[in-house]
Order: sequence, then structure tokens, then C-alpha cells
Amino acid sequence: RQDEREELYGVMELAVGLYREALERSEEGGAARRYLEGRGVDGAMAEAYRLGFAPDRWDYLTRHLQHRSVSLDLAEKLGLVRRRDGGGFYDTFRNRLLFTIADIHGRAIGFGGRVLDDSLPKYINSPESPIYRKSEVLFGVSLAKGAMREMGTAIVVEGYFDHLALYQAGVRNVVATCGTAMTEGHIKLLKRYAGKVYTLFDADGAGNKATLRAMDLCLDAGFPVHVVELTAGEDPDSFIRKEGSEAFSSRLARARSGLDYFFRQLVRDEGTATVEGKVKIVDELAPRLAKVGNDIERELYVREMSRVLGVDPRSLVRRIGGSGSSVA
Ligand code: GTP
Ligand code: MN
Ligand code: MN
Ligand code: MN
Ligand code: MN
Repeated sequence: RQDEREELYGVMELAVGLYREALERSEEGGAARRYLEGRGVDGAMAEAYRLGFAPDRWDYLTRHLQHRSVSLDLAEKLGLVRRRDGGGFYDTFRNRLLFTIADIHGRAIGFGGRVLDDSLPKYINSPESPIYRKSEVLFGVSLAKGAMREMGTAIVVEGYFDHLALYQAGVRNVVATCGTAMTEGHIKLLKRYAGKVYTLFDADGAGNKATLRAMDLCLDAGFPVHVVELTAGEDPDSFIRKEGSEAFSSRLARARSGLDYFFRQLVRDEGTATVEGKVKIVDELAPRLAKVGNDIERELYVREMSRVLGVDPRSLVRRIGGSGSSVA
């Protein structure tokens, strides 16, 4: 229902205001303000991102909403409050720094909440709701859309802080998946603004997996994708802080096409010293080369990759043809 959606947006705006106030002005927000300072996030960024703080109480939001006669059923639909067994409600977000998740128009639709220490879970995120569909939302899109359109490219990172770090360093065409795997919905969203995407996921096991998944999705969608690689163990936020924004720019400039990246990973993992290794590589590679729409591009890949593997390009082409038609 349209009315209900409008009401939900209204409740979100109220919640954002209350959590902003707790961060900026309350005494109990001090720890969160110090935390942000420690992570290099300044006041202007906190404002632009509408960062907030959920105090360590069960009823901070619940009581404020009640005082304003806001329906707690609506707040529950947004995952902001939860129902108590004995009746009544309690706050979902407690003692967490809050990132406001917004839609393309900048309307608040959810929160991501981070603990201020090492306790777990590190993040709690709003659940899906009538106004928040995770597979179609990218964090920061309302701030980044102008730059994405201007530059024709989008950079996709994993985390909230990665987004903030890049944005603060002047890289503005950046959006974050926030832990969820990339989806077709995300690609559709990106395609509205950009003709090409750079993945910039954490240089760890989870990040590498996410990179391959994103590459396959982009291949399927015919969306050009490049992969930016960071020093092992780093994420964009930690990388920029340790190595600086010039080092970052040079990583960006050295991004490889998705298939090039994929091929190099295969060569590194399987090796080209054995027949089995090469066969495995071709098995993984051929179905993906088959998805390259541009004939010249495909031919150039085939030439380079068959050279590295030491196989006849014509054999690779045959495999591509075969896998293109036989895989249903
Ligand atoms: P920081 O320690 O704050 O820098 O976190 P990070 O962003 O580097 O976290 P990580 O690389 O582990 O995760 C990337 C993103 O996944 C985060 O920004 C969150 O959106 C999400 N995420 C991370 N941990 C959790 C978790 O425990 N629960 C949920 N729901 N999401 C998480
Ligand atoms: Mn994690
Ligand atoms: Mn990660
Ligand atoms: Mn990370
Ligand atoms: Mn991080």
C-alpha cells in the first residue's frame, strides 16, 4: 500500500533524527563520537551520511516514538523495534553506531549498526521491509550517483567504512554491498548510472569469493567488469589509511578485466606445469569466454590465454563453441 510506504518513510526519518541527535549531542554518544574520530571520520562526513548512535538502552527509540504517538507496529515492520513476549516493544539497535541506508533518492530505508568494540555480531542490519529490498539497494548510491554518471564507472566495495574512506579521499563513484552478495538487482541499479564496474572487495577469502561471483554476474549481464586488487589482508578503508590515496589510485589504474583477473587466479591456483592443471583451467575458462559478446575481445583473450597455456588457440575456440551450446 502506498499510504503505508509513505508512513514507513516517515518513521524512518524520525528514527534517523533521534539517532543523529544521540550521536551529535548526547552524553552517552561520546564513545561513538570518539570511535568515529579514531576511524578518521569527520563531522561533515557524519552529517552527509547521517550517521547516528543507538544508546545502550532497551527503550530509547521505543519511548521517543511513543511520545510522538508513532505506531510501533510500523516501527516493527521496519525492524526498528521488536515485540516483547509479555507485550510491548524493545529497541533492535542498542549501543551501536548507525549507518543510515538510503535509496537512490536519499530517503532513509534502513540502518546498519556497528558495535564500538570487538564484540559480536560486529554489524546488525535492518531486515527487509516494504521499503527496503536488500537485493536492490547499494549503500551510498544517492551520494554516488552523480559521480557514477559523470565518470561512467562505478566502484563497488564491501563495507560501510570502505565507502566512507573512499568518499572522504575524493573517490565519489563508490557504492557498497554491505556484506550481501552482489545480485542481478544491484547490476540493474548500477547500469542506470554507469557503463562499467570496478569491484574492490576485501583482499581476503570472503572478498575473493565475492569478486568471482560478481565477475560471473557481470559476464552474464554483459556488463564490463574490472577487478581492483589490494595488499593481502587489507580492505579499501585500511589500505587507504596505511598506504595513502596515491597508492590507491595506482591500484585502481592497474585494475584488470574480470576475465584477466580470473585467468591469473586460475594459473596461480592450478599451475601450468601439469596437463591436469591446464585441463582444469580450460574447463573453468571456456564457459566464461563463451559469454564474451564481442568477437574481437574474445579472440584477443583466446590468443593470450592459449599462449600462456601452451595450447593451440583452435582447440580453445572449439571448447568455447562446445561449452557455449551444450551447457543448458
Ligand atoms: P569494519 O571492521 O567496521 O571495518 O568492518 P568491515 O566493513 O571491514 O567488515 P567486513 O569486511 O567484515 O564486512 C563488510 C560488510 O559486511 C560490513 O560493512 C557489513 O555491512 C557486513 N557485515 C560484516 N560483519 C557483519 C555481521 O556480523 N553481520 C552482518 N549482518 N553484516 C556484517
Ligand atoms: Mn565480517
Ligand atoms: Mn570483508
Ligand atoms: Mn572489510
Ligand atoms: Mn574494514
